[in-house]
Formats: sequence, C-alpha cells, structure tokens
Amino acid sequence: MSKYNRVLLKLSGEAFKGSREYGIDPQFLNFLAKEIQNCLKLNIECGIVIGGGNIFRGIAAEANGMDRVTADYTGMLATIMNALALKDALSKLNVETRVQTAIEMKEVAEPFILSKAIRHLEKKRVVIFAGGTGNPYFTTDTTAALRAAEIRADAILKATKVDGVYDSDPQTNSSATLFSDISYLDVINKKLKVMDTTALSLSMDNAIPIYVFNLNTPNNLFNILSGKLVGTRIS
Ligand code: GTP
Repeated sequence: MSKYNRVLLKLSGEAFKGSREYGIDPQFLNFLAKEIQNCLKLNIECGIVIGGGNIFRGIAAEANGMDRVTADYTGMLATIMNALALKDALSKLNVETRVQTAIEMKEVAEPFILSKAIRHLEKKRVVIFAGGTGNPYFTTDTTAALRAAEIRADAILKATKVDGVYDSDPQTNSSATLFSDISYLDVINKKLKVMDTTALSLSMDNAIPIYVFNLNTPNNLFNILSGKLVGTRIS
C-alpha cells in the first residue's frame, strides 16, 4: 500500500530521448512503462503530464526568432506525441491508459474533461494529460501543478535526471549538496530552478507536496510511493 491515493507524475520530454539526440527512445519508453506498471501494484491512481523538449523546445525556438505563441503551440503538440508513445508502451503491458488533450483533436485522443478523467482514475486507469494547459506562456510543470490541483492529487512526483534539488547545479558543481526537504518559498527565493514559480506557487497554494527524484534509478518511483525517503520533498 501507498500513503498516497492519487498522484500526478511529471515526466520531462528530454527523458524520452534516452540515449538518443532527438525523439523517443523505445528502450527508455519500455523502462518507464515498467516503472509505472510496478507502481500500480500499490493500488494508487496515477495521472501523468509529459513535456515535449525531446521533440521541440519552445524557448529555443523563440530565441531563434519564432513567435512565442506559435512556438508554445508547437511544443504542446510535441507533448501529445510523447503521450501517445507512452500510452502505446503502457498498453503493451496491459496497463489501461487514456490520453486526454487540452487542445481538442478527437480523432487522436479524448478531449480533456475533468470529470471523465476522474472516472478513469477511479477505475485505476492511467490518465495522460497532453497538450499542456492548452494555452501559450505556461510550462508543462505548470500544467502538472494545475492538473494535480484539479484531480486533487496527494502529491506531484517530478522526475528529473538528477537525484533531487541541490543548492547549485550538480552537473557543473561537484560539491553541490542535495536537500532532502525544502519549502516552496525557499526554492523560489533561492532561485533553485527546479520548476517555474507559477508551478511552485500553484502547488503551494493548494498544499500539494512535490517530490523531485531521479527517474533513471530503477524503483525510485516505487520507493517514493512506498514512503521511502528518495530525492527531495518540497512542501
Ligand atoms: P468508461 O466510460 O468508464 O467505460 O470509459 P471508456 O474510456 O472505456 O469508455 P468510452 O466509451 O468513453 O471510450 C472507449 C474508448 O474510446 C477509450 O479507449 C477512449 O479513450 C476512446 N475515446 C473516448 N472518447 C474519445 C474521443 O473523443 N476521441 C478519441 N480518439 N478516442 C476517444
């Protein structure tokens, strides 16, 4: 059993690249689907939000002269590609999954309808919320915080490629230290750049704890849900 009933898992699109330069690595997708399948043994309900950075980076496109709104919509479409790929991988493991998109495209997936998403969750289906919030200027981290509040998730699990929240970048500073517990306000004030301030303040206002952990370590997700201390808790 888990102390959580319902969680929102936030996956970075970048992670989907796996060992590739670009796109979706089927091996990583398989690993991820198995990690998720394993967690469902804990009888939790799981919503998922995925980024799109493995396919398209809005910020980089804007820097190269693309209109911000157009870049953001393109990024939202990239998240839908990732959602479909993850649904496919989960379905191969017989994990019942539904994709809902914030930008309506009925031929491709269900539109985002909160009450329907909640019914799916109650039936223990994984629900992937794709297409961001459907609005430009919002990140997929903010989408995760918004959907977590809407589905009344008990926690946000933010998967990253490092072990949690550090006082400086562990990839450039070898003496960076890991926080095991930190407040939302400290993350904002210290500019720790784990999530944008909109996502952090939305989570703070709704008192949803955020667990930041390394997705590449097998069983991390399962261990957090089992109540073990893994990575950093922002609360
Ligand atoms: P229940 O109402 O609990 O039975 O949920 P369900 O999702 O199994 O039933 P529903 O009849 O809503 O959907 C059946 C299948 O069609 C599921 O795989 C849905 O994801 C899919 N589906 C439902 N609505 C849409 C839609 O608007 N577009 C697309 N592409 N698929 C849809």
